[in-house]
This record gives sequence, structure tokens and C-alpha cells, in this order.
Amino acid sequence: MVATAGAQVGEQGWSSRTAFILAAVGAAVGLGNIWRFPTLAGENGGGAFVLVYLVCVLLIGLPLMLSEFVVGRAGQSDAIGSVRRVADESRVSRRWSIFGGIEILAGFLILSFYSVVAGWVLYYIWLSGGDFLGNLFAGEALRGAFSGIGQEAVSGMMGDLFASPGRLILVHALFMAATIAIVASGVHDGIEKAATWLMPAFFFLLLGITVYGAFTGDFARALTFMFTPDFSKLTAPVMNEALGQAFFSLSLASGALVTYGAYVARDVNLGPTAATISLADTAVAMIAGLMIFPIVFAVGLDPSAGPALIFQSLPVAFQTMPGGSLIGLLFFVLIFFAALTSSISLLEGPTAWAIDRFGLRRPVAAVILGLGAFVIGIACALGYNVWADVRPLGFWNIFAETDILDTIDGFTGKLMLPLAGLLLSIFVGWKADRRLVEAQSGLSGGLFVLWRFLVAWLCPIAVALILLFGLFPQLL
Ligand code: PHE
Repeated sequence: MVATAGAQVGEQGWSSRTAFILAAVGAAVGLGNIWRFPTLAGENGGGAFVLVYLVCVLLIGLPLMLSEFVVGRAGQSDAIGSVRRVADESRVSRRWSIFGGIEILAGFLILSFYSVVAGWVLYYIWLSGGDFLGNLFAGEALRGAFSGIGQEAVSGMMGDLFASPGRLILVHALFMAATIAIVASGVHDGIEKAATWLMPAFFFLLLGITVYGAFTGDFARALTFMFTPDFSKLTAPVMNEALGQAFFSLSLASGALVTYGAYVARDVNLGPTAATISLADTAVAMIAGLMIFPIVFAVGLDPSAGPALIFQSLPVAFQTMPGGSLIGLLFFVLIFFAALTSSISLLEGPTAWAIDRFGLRRPVAAVILGLGAFVIGIACALGYNVWADVRPLGFWNIFAETDILDTIDGFTGKLMLPLAGLLLSIFVGWKADRRLVEAQSGLSGGLFVLWRFLVAWLCPIAVALILLFGLFPQLL
């Protein structure tokens, strides 16, 4: 077969291995690294969480990422269609495609709240852009962003935003519109183009700001916080949270990677590529932590402040930087880019499915699904104000305290992603034809044996245990 991929979805596929890596790194690196990882590490005591997270990425996340690519490239279709095809070729039941269905639904649900949080980033672009222009015209462009206001005032800006349904929904709508527009433009002209421009710029700025933070913030304390595990904090729910974060951050089990795998040319070696992508994603999460926690400690914020953490800490740091007005603006622009290359992958999974399943045209599928996620996102936005008391899964102890956004986030991250990952590992480790899997993986000899062992044994057992005790801690 020639190197045209994604045949079912009528797509040309990625134009090169580099384009594929950039698109997949773009899918992986996003709010999960810069917003969700520091938030969860802060809430769960730092070191212990980070340690479990790293172990999960290496032993579970990376093997499963390769599994997703293998299924996608072998199946040449969306997350459900690809599993069906591989099941047919392996002569096992097509019912295994159920996990593809869970993946697509999870991606759709994640997109709904992801766009709301990305909207906060847009709002901060607006704030820092106004600040930058104000300073520029007042002839003081080198003063810091959010100039002259204290920590409390910076935190108060987040409060103002949360209190306003109109603003929250507006920025959410803008972000979703951008996501839809790119996905509607196609894999080659939309997704690939966005990733190849936005990702390199993102890396460059991330490093710059981290180096700056290392010199100005409380770096030593941040290092201790992130890398000194307090094992008394290693409870089953913390492990479940860390596992969910590994899935979320690597974009596993949410339809994105199977679908991206379908667009990869036959001659790309998937094993090393998955390793590169996982490594890049993990590096960004660590760097983001080392960028944010020094500032958090330097300005006396509580690391367990929750979802608003980065929005309350970073602007304070920009205040004190020379040229901070501009850096603050650029920084939020780049988080926005990273979020966008992820949200398009979240929408691409369901969109590819709708194209295959119902024969819709790409733009139509993207608009319908994007609008659906937008509507659910509105509920998340209202959960910060008019519906602040709503607890959608309040009857379940682990979700008793969580608002609408956190409930969807927690339900997908702690439950749906690991569950789909569990089924995926059984499918690839036990059910799918071994020769097909081996040929697609690009691994051979000992590496292949190791990978298969991790997928067939370690992943299902570890994920099942973490799921069980994380969701029902009373069993322990
Ligand atoms: N991995 C992305 C992030 O870290 C989020 C994402 C999850 C994207 C699942 C696609 C699929 O921001």
C-alpha cells in the first residue's frame, strides 16, 4: 500500500515525519502541561504526585501511546473504525471498538471544558494586551504587565472574570470558533499548518521565561516541592489523579492519537516517534512546574490554590520583569497556541468519526461537534457563577465538592481515560494479531518483547488496580 493515510477519512495525511511529530507534540503539549499539571501537583502535595506521574508516563503512557498509533495506522480510520478493522484482521469480535467509542466521547467532553479554560487565557491576552498598549502609549513600555498592582489585585482579576457569565462565554466562544475553523480546513491545510508554526515558537518562549524565573523566583523551594516525595501523601486517589494526568497530558485514550496515527505514512517508525513525543510532553510539564512554582512561592501564594493558580501567579512575576508588559502578552499568546494545537486534536477525533460514520463533509462535522461541545462548555462557565452550587455528581464522594467543570474534568480524567486505556491495552496486548502489531510498531527483538510485556501485563493490571482503589478508596 502507498503512503496515503487516513484513507477512510478521505485525507492525504501528514506531509512528513516531522509534521507528524509536531502535530502530535502539539496535541500532547497544552493546558494539561501548563495549567492542569501544576494545579494537580500543587493540590496533591508536589513530589509524591510528580513521582507517580513520571512512573505512569514511562511504564503506562508511553507503551499505550505506541499502541494507539499502531491501531490507527493499521486501521486507517477514526478511533472506532480503526479498532474494527484491526479486529477484523485479527479475527476477534468487533465489540472491542467500544473503547474507541469511549475515547471519542471522552475527547468530546474534554473539549467542552478545555475551551472554557483556554478562554481564560484569551481573556488574559486581552488584559495584558491592553496593559502593553497602555504602557506603550504612556511611553513606559518597559514597565511590567499589570503594572503597579499587588498580588491581591491580580487575584481579583480572576475573580472578576469568574463572576461574569457573559465574559466567560464570549472568550469560550472565540476559542471554540478558532478550533472549528482549523479542523474544518483539513488535516494538511489546517492542523499540520497550525502545529508547524505554533509549536517551535512555543518552546522558545517557554525556555526563556523559565530561565528568567529561575533567577528571580524561589527556585530552590520549587525544586524541593516538586522533587522531594512525601510518601505519606501517596494515597490511592493521588495515584489515580496522577495516572489520569498522564493520560490527559499525553492525549491518550481520547480519540486523538488513533486518529493522528491513521494519517502517518507507512515508512515512519512509530516506536521511536512515540518516545520522542512522550519525552517532549514530559519535559514541558516539568519545565512548566519549574516556571510556575518559584513564582508561587516567591509571592506567597498557596500551591494548592486550584485551577486559578497560574493565572494568579504568572502576572505577578511579569510585573517585576524588565519588558514584562510584552513578555506577559507573548506568554499568554503562546499558552493560547499550545491550547489550540491540543483542542484541534480533541475535535479531530470526533470529527473523523462523524465523517466516516455519517459521510458528512468535514466542515459540517466540525461545526456540529464543535457547537455541541460549546454548549456543554457553557454549563461549565455558569458553574463559576449562577450555577456555583451545582454538584453534578455530588452523590459520589470523590466528586462531592466539585463544580461542573471540575466534575467533567475529573470524570473523564479519573474514569473514562483509564478505562479506555485498560481496554486498549488488553486489545493490543492480547487480541490483536501479533504480527500485525509487531510490523506496525517498528520495534524488534528485546524492545518489542518489553513493550508487549508492558502493554499486555503491566498496563492492564496497574490501571485496573489504580482505577478500582482510586474511585473507591473505601475499599482499601
Ligand atoms: N494533552 C492535551 C494537553 O495536555 C489535552 C488533550 C487531551 C488533547 C486529550 C487531546 C486529547 O493539554
